[in-house]
Amino acid sequence: MQNDQAGDAKRTSLHGHWSSRMAFILAVTGSAVGLGNIWKFPYIAGQNGGGAFVLVYLICVVAIGMPVMMSEILIGRRGRRNPVATMELLGKEEGSSGHWRWVGGMGVIAGILILSYYSVVAGWTLAYVVKSVSGVFVGANADVVGAQFADFVGNWKAVGLSHTVFMGLTIFVVARGVERGLEQAVKFMVPALLILMLMLLGYSINSGYFGEGVAFLFTPDFEKLTWNSVLVALGQAFFSLSIGMGAIMAYGAYLPEDTSITGATAAVVTADTGIAILAGLAIFPLVFANGLSPDSGPGLVFQTLPLAFGQMAGGVFFATLFFVLLAFAAWTSAIGLMEPAVAWLVEHYNRTRAQASVMIGGLIWALGFGSVLSFNVLAETKFLAGTIFDNIEYLTSNFMLPLGGLLITVFAGWVMCRNSTADELGGSGATYKAWRVLARFVAPIGILIVLINAVT
Ligand code: PFF
Repeated sequence: MQNDQAGDAKRTSLHGHWSSRMAFILAVTGSAVGLGNIWKFPYIAGQNGGGAFVLVYLICVVAIGMPVMMSEILIGRRGRRNPVATMELLGKEEGSSGHWRWVGGMGVIAGILILSYYSVVAGWTLAYVVKSVSGVFVGANADVVGAQFADFVGNWKAVGLSHTVFMGLTIFVVARGVERGLEQAVKFMVPALLILMLMLLGYSINSGYFGEGVAFLFTPDFEKLTWNSVLVALGQAFFSLSIGMGAIMAYGAYLPEDTSITGATAAVVTADTGIAILAGLAIFPLVFANGLSPDSGPGLVFQTLPLAFGQMAGGVFFATLFFVLLAFAAWTSAIGLMEPAVAWLVEHYNRTRAQASVMIGGLIWALGFGSVLSFNVLAETKFLAGTIFDNIEYLTSNFMLPLGGLLITVFAGWVMCRNSTADELGGSGATYKAWRVLARFVAPIGILIVLINAVT
């Protein structure tokens, strides 16, 4: 075992370090909390029948998501490089092979593909800031709000423009580096988002249909559960926690030696899951109160929440604030999606951060037009999972991320020697033992079972 470098865990990263443990938690939370929680979780829970899906999702988060996240952070901190170089380095150091770099490589590609559609939806939230300010939602009924959404996404130029603005903002932050500004933004955004979600929840509780919403989300009807929905739940756990593609590994590379990985993971997972559930609880009562259909797809949030704001006192202000915060949340996630690719280009090809950000960002922007057009010009062009947008979404969340997670846990649980992982996770107590069982057996076997059953 070539573990002579194990003592050399004090490598430093080329991109600087987080200023504190809190800064790391905030950055990872900023990456985790995003459109996945507020836009995607409710709409896919709706499409997959609610209750049973939510239960499977929660099981995936705890039994698979947590050990994968811990593995990613510990690998990232030990390697202290971009995910491709880290996997290569540790692969060799642990006596296996440099080919493990392909896991990092797949993550780089997944991040680029995910951001190509993520930025388009983030663009919708920017456009909704403008709509909210204009007051179009005041007193609007479900038909008006529905028509607003359909007209907007039907206009490829408007969607393309907002996608362009969002990518521009993302490239700007990534070009400036990891530390500056980001921590401050997240410190404000997550609590503010939480407060607004609680306000919306208050509105939903008063809608008269809260019971229906709760029943939909929490009464499991296993008849509705297919292997495909289980795969979607697993994919969503990966997507929502930002794991399986090296983003968290890239953040872990900047983590100080003495920070507890378990504690940080628990904090992030709690915040991420809490916000998703809150979004579901705010949205489904509105769905039932307005006679909408839970499975109306990617437009669900944009067709329900404006209804609530439209009825509230101060609705213009709160709607605007909400969409600004959602755009912010998307922004801090987008940064995480670009980080592996940018860090790789910087280290591997000696580019400056600014050059790398513009190159990768430009590529993502161009790819994004596949998704821009999926809601209008190419809406009827369907193959495999549906439109171009549907295919990129399905392929990345449901195959690339789980496969990445599988390989990451196999690497941390089986390839890395016990000393290395115990060193990073701080000793060999009960938490370490639990992680090891989850990372070696539960997570990889669970992922395999779901993948195999869903494709056959
Ligand atoms: N977790 C983000 C969300 O829920 O919106 C999406 C995401 C961000 C996935 C960063 C992956 C990632 F690296």
